Amino acid sequence: MPKYKIAWLPGDGIGIEVLEAARIVLDTIQLNAEYIHGDIGWDFWCSEGDAFPQRTITLLKSVDAAMFGAITSKPMKAAQAELNPKFQDKGLIYRSPIVRMRQQFDLYNCLRPCKAYPGNPLNFKEGIDLVVFRENTEDLYSGVEFNPVPQELADLLTTISKPFAPFAKLPIDQYAISCKINTKAGSERIVRAAFEFARKFKRKKVTIVHKANVVRATDGLFFDAAKEVAVHYPEIKMDDANIDAMTMWLLKNPFNYDVLVAPNLYGDIISDLCAQMVGGLGFGCSGNIGTKLAVFEPTHGSAPKYAGQYKVNPIATILAAKMMLDWLGETEKGAKLENAVAAVIKEGNVRTYDMGGNSKTLDMANAIAEKL
Ligand code: NAI
Ligand code: MG
Repeated sequence: MPKYKIAWLPGDGIGIEVLEAARIVLDTIQLNAEYIHGDIGWDFWCSEGDAFPQRTITLLKSVDAAMFGAITSKPMKAAQAELNPKFQDKGLIYRSPIVRMRQQFDLYNCLRPCKAYPGNPLNFKEGIDLVVFRENTEDLYSGVEFNPVPQELADLLTTISKPFAPFAKLPIDQYAISCKINTKAGSERIVRAAFEFARKFKRKKVTIVHKANVVRATDGLFFDAAKEVAVHYPEIKMDDANIDAMTMWLLKNPFNYDVLVAPNLYGDIISDLCAQMVGGLGFGCSGNIGTKLAVFEPTHGSAPKYAGQYKVNPIATILAAKMMLDWLGETEKGAKLENAVAAVIKEGNVRTYDMGGNSKTLDMANAIAEKL
């Protein structure tokens, strides 16, 4: 019997191609695993009114980990238009399956390492090695949103919130509300994950990213929770920065930073910035980690304009597979895979279009597999 059960969720567009590439390296490295396909993505929304069908949720409850490619999401009107007519009047609302998965399985820790592998022509600067911890279930992604705003809510806000008064004069279909909800426990656990990582891997510093000077309630709570957690890690330096200044400082001097931890939206933003500094979306890997399940994916989406061409860079997904190996405790295999990726980047013989070459997705995977 295989040691691990892995859910295999290619999704849409280039998600299918990069997962095929990741499978080549996992098979070559002989991970003792059974891979079980799961349906997810746009086609399932169109045909059955659910992009994340119950059978896939059931599958995820039974596995040790999952690899996920990417899905296509479209705005509300397009989603309704493409839905099978037999579901049109059922009041179904499209919600991104990856956001649902993160919430349903409490995958609270979005871990995004961004390392400049030597010789990558896309490196912003050689030597960058940043790790972003993004809170993954709360904040502006809580899914509590109103457009139009219910009259009861408008009335309530008028009575309890003075600053809200100017908006309340507007008709309820002329403004919208997305709630930023952050909990103390949710903030503490992501900051703790960042400090635990720093302790384990002997990182020097953890930077708390927020906007507590303006978004006082939610970011204030996050920052206060972070300071309480930091006390338990006296050997690790802590500092903080506002999200806007952070983007500037990261570009100006990335070597001042090490581990970064942020609420959901700011984490999303800085992790794309960090990914770009080490080569762009073709290098951005990500783990969605909970206490029972972890789902690994590239940070990029389904890139419809490249779908079917097998030309995108699979390194982000292959590095996500490396993260999965580490999470499963297969750290020797994880290190071997990372060394193979680093060697192929350094040699520079196989490069996908984003790296200035014309190698195909599976050429890259095979070149990496050859080094294993
Ligand atoms: P995207 O990440 O799919 O692609 C944007 C551009 O980045 C591409 O056109 C391409 O130039 C480049 N790129 C992306 N992956 C690459 C790779 N592996 N190698 C080389 N270049 C790469 O973002 P976009 O176009 O904004 O969104 C497309 C669809 O993906 C949308 O429906 C969006 O909702 C969805 N999406 C899904 C995500 C997920 O499944 N986690 C994340 C982000 C977007
Ligand atoms: Mg993103």
